[in-house]
Amino acid sequence: MLDVEKIRNDFPIFNDLNKPFIYLDSASTSQKPLEVIDTISSYYNSYAANVHRALYSIGEKATDEYENVRLLVKKMLNVPDSHSVIFTSGTTESINLIAYSWGLKNLKKADNVLITEMEHHSNIIPWQLITKKTNSSLNYIPLSNNGTLNTESMNEQLLSSTKIISISHQSNVFGTINPIKNIIDKAKSMDILTLIDGAQAVPHLKVNLAELDSDFYVFSGHKMLGPTGVGVLIGRNELLEEMEPFLGGGEMINKVNMHESTWNEIPWKFEAGTPKVAQVIGLGAAIKYLMNIGLENIHNHEQGLLQYALDILEQNENIILYGNPPERGAVIPFNLKNIHAHDLAKFLDLDGICIRAGHHCAQPIMDYLNVSSTARISMNIYNDENDIDILAAGIKKTISTLN
Ligand SMILES: Cc1ncc(COP(=O)(O)O)c(C=O)c1O
Repeated sequence: MLDVEKIRNDFPIFNDLNKPFIYLDSASTSQKPLEVIDTISSYYNSYAANVHRALYSIGEKATDEYENVRLLVKKMLNVPDSHSVIFTSGTTESINLIAYSWGLKNLKKADNVLITEMEHHSNIIPWQLITKKTNSSLNYIPLSNNGTLNTESMNEQLLSSTKIISISHQSNVFGTINPIKNIIDKAKSMDILTLIDGAQAVPHLKVNLAELDSDFYVFSGHKMLGPTGVGVLIGRNELLEEMEPFLGGGEMINKVNMHESTWNEIPWKFEAGTPKVAQVIGLGAAIKYLMNIGLENIHNHEQGLLQYALDILEQNENIILYGNPPERGAVIPFNLKNIHAHDLAKFLDLDGICIRAGHHCAQPIMDYLNVSSTARISMNIYNDENDIDILAAGIKKTISTLN
């Protein structure tokens, strides 16, 4: 078990003991440890400079700190080559980059892109836009009742015309951990590319990209104790070399003349303009923090909490739980009979309890469940059983007040 009290001491937001604060919305965004905040401040306080161009020492330091984070990402996820690590503004931009840079060039009329009904909108909309532009089609692997993917249908949908399958590693609604290794292997045997959305997986699971061997893997800094405004795209070098740049501007060029230009090497070809220097450096501090605790320890802690929360919520007959995937992260979607999820979230907030209510940027899942919204709790290293007890009491109080 993790020492949650010690961990909470590392997070300034939990330090105000005068007001209750139970944070159960980490799937939306995580809280930040002081080390991350201090690392960002120290860049602004003592070596704020642009990277890759300044010929003075603070510029060199900023460049070193920035580029070192590429090595940290490589280490954390066992990426074979740091040149395949591209910094973006988040998962959303990473997926858009792939859809536009790879999709526009490679998708033709008879082709199809395969995603799933479980995806976050950021893994749906870019593909809707690109398949429309290229006249290709967009197919979906359907959901099953327990919040997993319908694997029989998945096999039928992997066609010779499928060019890429883009799928979440862990669902942000059900918490389902998808069997991505099997999917990647199957896709590879049919020459289909794979893009894995790791936004909900990287903060909570030990991910080994050398083993998984997907063509693309993407995630966001702010969900893994890091700052907002930074994300990562890891791609297979040969594909990145062939792809056109997504954004044009400074940094991403080799030579510019008035009529045409040539591109910088990867990864810099995809990092146009002044990069997210402070955010990337902050992400580095978050990676160090997570690796210090250990992803296996984090996963075990959260699995214990998940089970504890499920056992308690299941006892309340006014609660409808959605999905029951056999392998899942610490995310639980639910509704109360007769009480709207937004009302529940607002009532809990009066007691300092933060949960998410809404469609979770996954409206196809809401359609499948035949609801417009659900409540959702999601847990992290700074949560403990006491948080769940307080939540359960808050839910009971809401029911007795509103019913
Ligand atoms: C599974 C999944 N994919 C993608 C995203 C989008 O991430 P961002 O908003 O950081 O780009 C999220 C955010 O909630 C998510 O949960």
